[in-house]
Amino acid sequence: MTSISLSATATGKADAVVVGVYATETAKGVKGVALAPGAEAVDAAYGGSLAKALDLIGAAGKDGELTRVPAQGDVKAPLIVAVGLGKKPGKGEQLNTDTLRKSAAAAARSLAGKAKAIFALPAEDAAQAGSVAEGVLLGAYSYQGLKAAKKDAKGAVGEVVLATSGAKQAAVKKAVEHADTVATAVNLARDLINTPPSHLYPQTFAERAQAEVKAAAVPALTIEVLDEKALTKGGYGGIMGIGKGSAKPPRLVRVAYRHPKAKKHLALVGKGITFDTGGISLKPANAMDTMKSDMSGAAAVFAATLAAAKQEVPVNITTYLSLAENMPGGGAVKVSDVVTMYGGKTVEIMNTDAEGRVVMADALARASEDQPDLLLDVATLTGAQVLALDRLAAVMGNDDELRTRIVETAKAAGEEMWPMPLPEYLRETIDTQSADISNMGQRMGGMLVAGLFLREFVGEGIKWAHLDIAGPSFNEKAPFGDTPKGGTGAAVRTLVRLAEDLGSGK
Ligand code: BES
Ligand code: MN
Ligand code: ZN
Repeated sequence: MTSISLSATATGKADAVVVGVYATETAKGVKGVALAPGAEAVDAAYGGSLAKALDLIGAAGKDGELTRVPAQGDVKAPLIVAVGLGKKPGKGEQLNTDTLRKSAAAAARSLAGKAKAIFALPAEDAAQAGSVAEGVLLGAYSYQGLKAAKKDAKGAVGEVVLATSGAKQAAVKKAVEHADTVATAVNLARDLINTPPSHLYPQTFAERAQAEVKAAAVPALTIEVLDEKALTKGGYGGIMGIGKGSAKPPRLVRVAYRHPKAKKHLALVGKGITFDTGGISLKPANAMDTMKSDMSGAAAVFAATLAAAKQEVPVNITTYLSLAENMPGGGAVKVSDVVTMYGGKTVEIMNTDAEGRVVMADALARASEDQPDLLLDVATLTGAQVLALDRLAAVMGNDDELRTRIVETAKAAGEEMWPMPLPEYLRETIDTQSADISNMGQRMGGMLVAGLFLREFVGEGIKWAHLDIAGPSFNEKAPFGDTPKGGTGAAVRTLVRLAEDLGSGK
């Protein structure tokens, strides 16, 4: 775990000091680099030739580019890490805080194994300091796994000192604290996603959630867990139906956060398939490689709720985690079985691998009973989403204004989401003779068909948005920007930001 503190000086003792470097170009097209604000004291201690040295060894200032030079002169940290911040902002232009956050993250990631680093990046105001802090805490994250021999493990950089002229300003301190809360939530979601399904299954996920709620010690935050008995009794035929192919029974977790001054009630629902084999409609082997991440939606809504509660945001939040393991056991739901959902609608299961929409439907129907002002669901719902948008999340729903709002909130929070439609003509592809609706429709436009299925379970008159995060939730490739390998914590920042906006009357 990385800790962060503020200091007005950038030249203290540490294992490394990070400076920012811009790409520059003269009128004649000669390319070079310039040090970014924050690097002045380090450069002075270096003898004033740091930019020249970086230029000589090939630094170009590209976003996230890392150039390492040994310290010289009076620099007390043995290593200087220069991180690219892209094109130098022109007169009157502001440095893009997305770039700043991502570059800070890349630098933090490169410092794994170090005890202490000073970040002397641009951090003059609260927005910049907050971005650097968030980037550091997101970039330093890496999943350590369950290894018996820890000797090779290079843990995250231990202590980060953020050098800023505003170290004593309340707004700067607040921005850094906020960054810490948000990054802690994102990293909690990442941890949950990365935990192997042998260790994280519905019961243990629910227990972990209970432990986190207890540790948060916010009186207005409560948690209730429905086990298989309560689910059967309550009529949750979707969650029970999907869960019954596994030896590990399903759970529905309800987390409620209440604030006396709340003017809005936000309901969140997360898909928590702790492993998706596909069930009887078994997936091919390699399609299961990332399926421990099929609970990313539940992880995101839970972590975001916790973060909002810890900050005592003046909004009411009710969050549901729909937890089940999709397995092809002897008791598993079969193709053409009909299950009766919470609320009484019947669903013909024509593909047991379309399990997410089934467990989500129960929770959406239940969440609708709370009569929230806004209902959001987050799910790794379809492979079609990955094909369509790769790293971006998709936003659908029954209210165009809300859909636009989510996309904009994501942008402001440093995430990428894109609006998608729910075309009416596709609705009939989930009609069936045997039940009210089928869980399987037309293959083409599969992401939209899944959204249309969910829409059927949203209560009359409730504004609802559906976030399909199948693509952005898990990164199989090398880390980039503030995104690590493995679980990414996608949607957490957007949800926290939305709760905050609602709390401040936006
Ligand atoms: N969990 C998957 C969706 C998924 C695929 C998430 C790849 C992340 C990466 C979901 O349960 C699923 O299997 N969906 C099927 C639905 C189909 C059978 C209608 C799909 O998209 O193939
Ligand atoms: Mn599936
Ligand atoms: Zn799934």
